[in-house]
Amino acid sequence: MKLIDKKILVGVTGGIAAYKTCDLVSQLVKNGADVRVIMTESAQKFIAPITFSALTGNPTSIHMFDTKENIPHIELVQNAHMLAVVPATANIIGKFANGIADDLLSSLLLAATCPIFFAPAMNINMYQNAAVQSNISRLKKMGIFIMEPDVGYLACGTSGKGRLPAPVKIFEEICNILEPKGPLCGCNVLVTAGGTREPIDPVRYIGNRSSGKMGYALAGAARKLGANVTVISTIEKPDYYLDKHIVVETAEEMYKEVLNNYAEQDIIIMAAAVADYMPINIQENKIKKTSDELIIKLKRTPDILSDLGLNKGDKILVGFAAETEELEKFAMDKLVKKNADLIIANDVSNPKIGFSSENNQVAIFDRTGCVTRSDLLPKTEIADIIINKIIDLDLFKKLKEQKGVDNHG
Ligand code: PMT
Repeated sequence: MKLIDKKILVGVTGGIAAYKTCDLVSQLVKNGADVRVIMTESAQKFIAPITFSALTGNPTSIHMFDTKENIPHIELVQNAHMLAVVPATANIIGKFANGIADDLLSSLLLAATCPIFFAPAMNINMYQNAAVQSNISRLKKMGIFIMEPDVGYLACGTSGKGRLPAPVKIFEEICNILEPKGPLCGCNVLVTAGGTREPIDPVRYIGNRSSGKMGYALAGAARKLGANVTVISTIEKPDYYLDKHIVVETAEEMYKEVLNNYAEQDIIIMAAAVADYMPINIQENKIKKTSDELIIKLKRTPDILSDLGLNKGDKILVGFAAETEELEKFAMDKLVKKNADLIIANDVSNPKIGFSSENNQVAIFDRTGCVTRSDLLPKTEIADIIINKIIDLDLFKKLKEQKGVDNHG
């Protein structure tokens, strides 16, 4: 009974694949979940509400004003662990991506604070339509879990991408979101991402070219292996679900948020490009062009990684070294000075890697003096290599023993 104590809302919209949702709902119920189905008006053309009521033992809701709840779109999602829309038509995808709430299901989607899962299914041309694709990527940016449709025979007689995956595959995906599996299961991982901005006056700042791609790739890689992931970032757009996402601007704000969230973390990965200096005085008004030269006095920012290193305990600390010369020497210096377990060195003078690029090439230094060098690869693959390197550390094995969880989750 994998899903005991889980309250799952299943939204059913008007697509031919709605018949498969019966099987999914049955599997969720058999595995202990308390399931409540919400259908759209047009879903009833494909399947009868009574089918879901019989399968779940709960009433099936369709309209805002026909449920026993006083404020159905709020009360139904309260304490829900997930809202899964299966199948999700182009219509519900478009409505949710644009904040439209004109029936019970679309209103519930806006009121939900639990993870939201969409399994789109439709004709291939509809699925590939630019409007649908742009709505899907908007949902991804909002942190909605989207399960790609399968490629295969479609009800309209054509073949291609748009088919609802088998209910057993959807069931596994939902279980994995609710109870992730993998070696990082039970571990709390904090990742910092993006470049800090240090204000000079109300319109100018000292910044850097970090896009947050490396940090978000690491967060995604950790989550894929079951970690509970917190991201503290200067960039606002995660395109997948994160357990916690905190947006900051300056090094001091990042420092404060990292410290606030430090105690419960097991692994901390500092991928952010944090400013080393900040203006001593931030001008209240925009600085005017009154002289040929302008001197801005700077002071050191807090060194977040170094301070964490002072209070490391059994936590795993991973830092980066963004260098333009003597990569290995400076990386080893940082490993020792900042008391990190791993330092990931990247040559940020190479325009093909490092800042903003889709790719990176790194050398990973550990405390034993061992160096692992990667090829030039997409940042997502570099992130997998780094996370696996963390999992190989003896300290990680110790951490798992302390948590009493076996290494394979
Ligand atoms: O974001 P992208 O565009 O994908 O680019 C990725 C990246 C190049 C930013 C990333 O791969 C990277 O190298 N991040 C670290 C950048 C950096 O600040 O490096 P550093 O060598 O200056 O700092 C060493 C370590 O100390 C880093 O882990 C940094 O996060 C940390 N630090 C630095 C300064 C400071 N005040 N506090 C810190 O904690």
